[in-house]
Amino acid sequence: MKVLGISGSPRKSHTTEELVKAILDATSLETELISLHDMTINGCICCLGCVEDNVCKVRDDYIPLMHKVLEADAIVVGAPNYFGRLNALTHAFLERFYCFRHDKDGLGGMRLSRKIGAIASVGGGGEWEMPGRDRKMYEIAGEDIKGFFDYNEIECVGTVEAQGAVPCFSCGYGEVCSVSGVKRFFGQDSKISPEIIPCLDKQPEVINKAKSLGKRLRDRLNKN
Ligand SMILES: Cc1cc2nc3c(=O)[nH]c(=O)nc-3n(C[C@H](O)[C@H](O)[C@H](O)COP(=O)(O)O)c2cc1C
Repeated sequence: MKVLGISGSPRKSHTTEELVKAILDATSLETELISLHDMTINGCICCLGCVEDNVCKVRDDYIPLMHKVLEADAIVVGAPNYFGRLNALTHAFLERFYCFRHDKDGLGGMRLSRKIGAIASVGGGGEWEMPGRDRKMYEIAGEDIKGFFDYNEIECVGTVEAQGAVPCFSCGYGEVCSVSGVKRFFGQDSKISPEIIPCLDKQPEVINKAKSLGKRLRDRLNKN
């Protein structure tokens, strides 16, 4: 059995990727982790080229991924919150699942139906409430991914959330900029030091949840 992990953060080796990896590692199954960070993945352009054969015709880095998604027994998708929603790169990737949905002869569309999935959700604001959505900042991306899973009839075994580092920690102006995420989430007078920069290692309870989720994913696959 094979589990495919997708990290939808444009940043390599940051919290999203590490969280997806923690889930994958805990499955003890054959896994593959792909980061979208250096890939060109455009959104669905509704060309309908996939209607006849369920194969996306947009020529970019999605095509090899499309085959990997189909071949995997389970997928783990991780993404960060950007502007209070799922980031665009992951959204574009998930939009392309449209190619799996057509059933022109009535003999078996919904090609991802009954695949098993798990979600890694990251937000720089962590437990801060997201205005207008009745959710915490690090829950938002996961909720949006779950929506894509539901549409494609992917059975979600769970979500794990982690706080990532807002880019304001490294932009150079995080202590002075009036709209700095460092000030917003850590206090107006925050001083940037390695101790306050969030990362997965500082969230052992999240790592434990990721491990439990990976084991749950494996157990669910073993039941099939
Ligand atoms: C364009 C942009 C917008 C962001 N908007 C939000 C936001 O609305 N809420 C939040 O909690 N974090 C926000 N963040 C912070 C990211 O969620 C955070 O940096 C996260 O750690 C990114 O995941 P990564 O570390 O795996 O790259 C934003 C980051 C960027 C680059």
